[in-house]
Amino acid sequence: MASNGNGAPPVGQENINTDIVTLTRFLTEEQTKVPEATGDFTLLTHALQFAFKSIAYYIRRASLINLTGLAGSSNTTGDDQKKLDVIGNDIFIAAMRGSGKCRLLVSEEEEEVIIFDEHPDARYAVVCDPIDGSSNLDAGVSVGTIFGIFKLPEEVCGAGKTVSAQDLLRAGTEMVASGFTMYGASAQLVITMRDGGVNGFTLENSLGEFILTHPNMRLPAKRAIYSVNEGNSSYWEEWTNAYFHSLKFPAEGNKPYSARYIGSMVADAYRTLLYGGVFAYPADSKSPKGKLRILYECAPMAMVFENAGGLAVNSKMERLLGVVPEHIHDRSGVFLGSHDEVQKIVDTYNQYKK
Ligand code: AHG
Ligand code: MN
Ligand code: MN
Repeated sequence: MASNGNGAPPVGQENINTDIVTLTRFLTEEQTKVPEATGDFTLLTHALQFAFKSIAYYIRRASLINLTGLAGSSNTTGDDQKKLDVIGNDIFIAAMRGSGKCRLLVSEEEEEVIIFDEHPDARYAVVCDPIDGSSNLDAGVSVGTIFGIFKLPEEVCGAGKTVSAQDLLRAGTEMVASGFTMYGASAQLVITMRDGGVNGFTLENSLGEFILTHPNMRLPAKRAIYSVNEGNSSYWEEWTNAYFHSLKFPAEGNKPYSARYIGSMVADAYRTLLYGGVFAYPADSKSPKGKLRILYECAPMAMVFENAGGLAVNSKMERLLGVVPEHIHDRSGVFLGSHDEVQKIVDTYNQYKK
């Protein structure tokens, strides 16, 4: 095509893609690959999609409509709640209730599991961190939403059957899908299905649609970037300090790693997914079980990372997706990232512990 001299095509002759893949189209196409699918999962994800768009909208407008600052309460795990934590949680609950396909919901902001008894036939259970990284909100730094979806066993579905939090104390391997959104320069959505690939979508604000922009995401096997709150190093175990020290002071002739830490897991994880490297929030003497929650922070991210070719382990170097939480807000140490980088962590741990 002739150019106007500055590299751009002449006005009126832009290459317009008239065949874009929206999230709705993507999910519909995925559904056709599963002959026994009823469409319930697709409807559930449409409701999730609406929650993400709404949260993205309010975050973008937060400074303008007095949504910054604290709500004046603290959540079940003792964190101060921001106004947007409360709004994000309310949006999520309403979307899941309204979908008619969600029987149980666990949210970081709710002490107890929410049971939607008005939909006894609903076959899905959803876990979520409605706003991850909320301490960054008032500074306009990227935050996000993390989610995981479980399918309930037949025997607890239907009128007259009872469900409880117990039905969600399952290993991450049992999730049928997971993912996260990051509300940054644009809203990014990353989603993966069990044993499937990882796909990334970008919210096109004018169309109001998530567009497939990052198909089949694979993270590089190695990259010299580490992401951790190093301010906690005096609480770390010896092996943890030894590992991070080795990145900064490598053997003669090797370049040290770069440090990148945003303090929103979604943003640190999204960068790690694209560029490679490792994200860590180790268990330490201040938080012996770790800080991040297994069900709605660690496991959904672990599934994304494994399906993109990476690894995800806890502070005992166990596969994170295999861990069964003891209660719905249970915490864990977490190391996730490029395959070879996480393997180095496992090797260092084994040297010190064995
Ligand atoms: P949340 O905002 O849902 O409570 O999660 C915050 C998490 C996570 O996003 C981030 O990786 C980590 O806390 C940051 O913790 P530090 O401030 O201790 O580094
Ligand atoms: Mn979080
Ligand atoms: Mn949160």
